[in-house]
Amino acid sequence: MDEVLHWLPSRKKGIALDSTLGGGGHAEALLKRDPDLRLIGLDKDVEAITRSHKRLKQFEDRVDLVNSGFEELDQVLDDLEINCVDLVIMDVGVSSFHLNEPKRGFSFSQNGLLDMRFDTSVGTNASDIIARSNERELASIFTRYGEQSQALKVAKAIIKERAKSPIKTTVQLSKIVESVLPRKRRGAIHPSTKVFQALRIAVNDELDALSKGLKLAAERLCMGGRMAVISFHSLEDRIVKRTMRNLEPHCVCPKESPICVCNNPGYMKILTKKPIRPKQPEVETNPRSRSAKLRVAERIKV
Ligand SMILES: C[S@@+](CC[C@H](N)C(=O)[O-])C[C@H]1O[C@@H](n2cnc3c(N)ncnc32)[C@H](O)[C@@H]1O
Repeated sequence: MDEVLHWLPSRKKGIALDSTLGGGGHAEALLKRDPDLRLIGLDKDVEAITRSHKRLKQFEDRVDLVNSGFEELDQVLDDLEINCVDLVIMDVGVSSFHLNEPKRGFSFSQNGLLDMRFDTSVGTNASDIIARSNERELASIFTRYGEQSQALKVAKAIIKERAKSPIKTTVQLSKIVESVLPRKRRGAIHPSTKVFQALRIAVNDELDALSKGLKLAAERLCMGGRMAVISFHSLEDRIVKRTMRNLEPHCVCPKESPICVCNNPGYMKILTKKPIRPKQPEVETNPRSRSAKLRVAERIKV
């Protein structure tokens, strides 16, 4: 939290876009620090919007909350007649509310229906993906989105079990995974971690949304505006790093060209050469932050 506030300094009469409201923690911290800041908050999950409305009640005259994905932030800002924003936060992935609410189906340690959608009003849930995908498709999801080296083994076990009865719950799925990927040693990550991560990413098309959202957010930054992006696993961080690099001025002239004539497209400057990791006290109070990586970029050209 302190790191985000440090990298997103106060802007006089600025506008901030919190594109992943979640519990409203970052939004509240910014609104408390900057008494004349206006904040636009987005979340795909309508429950996050409801919760944040309550949490941010005292700032309601400076806040607009919209139930939308950040991949549609263009439309949201157009509707609010906002040209550009000064600060952007993207703190991607699941929130602790998701993990602690069994009925949302994100957590393998609590039993619930395998849903995993951020927006429960649209799309295909995890249980339907498991029911409809063939072995190759399932293995591809676990490999691409979970970097699971034993993806085929898990896919085969799922196909075998679902022939007996439909796989509807988190514990059912977790037991199937554990039956083919036993825990290696104490302290190792749970065998279901990567499989659940992969399904969640597939259900919400998270990596595509992240790529789109990052580009749109950068385009809508005012001159000197900053975006801070927090990711939780290497697939996300790779996209953040690559997208920010592509948005920095760089020469795209053909190799044969003796001098640069392309005018160095790109309008962002990366401010964090290496990702910022949380400090120990933060990890102690919020163990989930352990794997968080923060990258920050600033708009340097119109
Ligand atoms: C890690 S939490 C954010 C926590 C928040 N920064 C706070 O201080 O409480 C991530 C949030 O992003 C939301 N989310 C995930 N993908 C999204 C997307 N494409 N657009 C908007 N919100 C999204 C999730 O529903 C979740 O509430």
